[in-house]
Amino acid sequence: MSYDLLTTYQLAPSILSANFGRLEEEVGKVMDAGARVVHIDVMDGRFVPNITIGPVVVESIRDQVHEAGGVLDVHLMIENPERYIEAFAAAGSDWINVHAEACIHLNAVLAQIRAAGLKAGVTLNPATPLATIQEVTGDIDFALMMTVNPGFSGQQFIASVLPKIRRARMLLPDHVGIEVDGGVAPDTIEAALDTGANLFVAGSAVFGAPDPAAAARSLIEAMESRKEFSD
Ligand code: DX5
Ligand code: ZN
Repeated sequence: MSYDLLTTYQLAPSILSANFGRLEEEVGKVMDAGARVVHIDVMDGRFVPNITIGPVVVESIRDQVHEAGGVLDVHLMIENPERYIEAFAAAGSDWINVHAEACIHLNAVLAQIRAAGLKAGVTLNPATPLATIQEVTGDIDFALMMTVNPGFSGQQFIASVLPKIRRARMLLPDHVGIEVDGGVAPDTIEAALDTGANLFVAGSAVFGAPDPAAAARSLIEAMESRKEFSD
């Protein structure tokens, strides 16, 4: 099931913008609206300036997300991610993606994620060339293309990344999903959809909206109006 979620159109609400005092309720709202990929932004204050979520938060929502047929999509914005793969796997993560910029031994880290039984993704910052993942296209289940510089939700979508995402779709095999993260909102999702990407992270556009469920539904409708992503 998690494999289908990788290659179909999916909204991935980022809980970074949710109210952490009511996390269960917030996750419930977006899953009721149809989201099945819950995006979790892990930041260490070193790779990015901000400090956010650790494995205990993943663990706190794992049963709720899994019981509703969803997956936990863990975005590691941390240095030395290889030190934490097993802890995030044990906490219930389904997908883990690591930044190419944070991995000296990228091939080994991706193999470590898969060895833990998870789907492996690689992430590129806006200024990182697509060629950085040229030699690991056979080692990933999805690629995440940042359309903001990572660290905070609520930043402006960087449209100059769009041609790179289009080239990523041409480079990667069809069974590899492409996720877009940063500034995805009703006014940017159409351009992001035009690239051929199929997974769309949205933080402030969902949880910052007065009605998160309605906001999630309208982004899901934008995706569904496109033809099925086929593999
Ligand atoms: C940024 C994070 C994003 C962020 C998205 O560093 O990786 O996932 O939460 O938030 P929005 O959708 O508000 O840009
Ligand atoms: Zn993210």
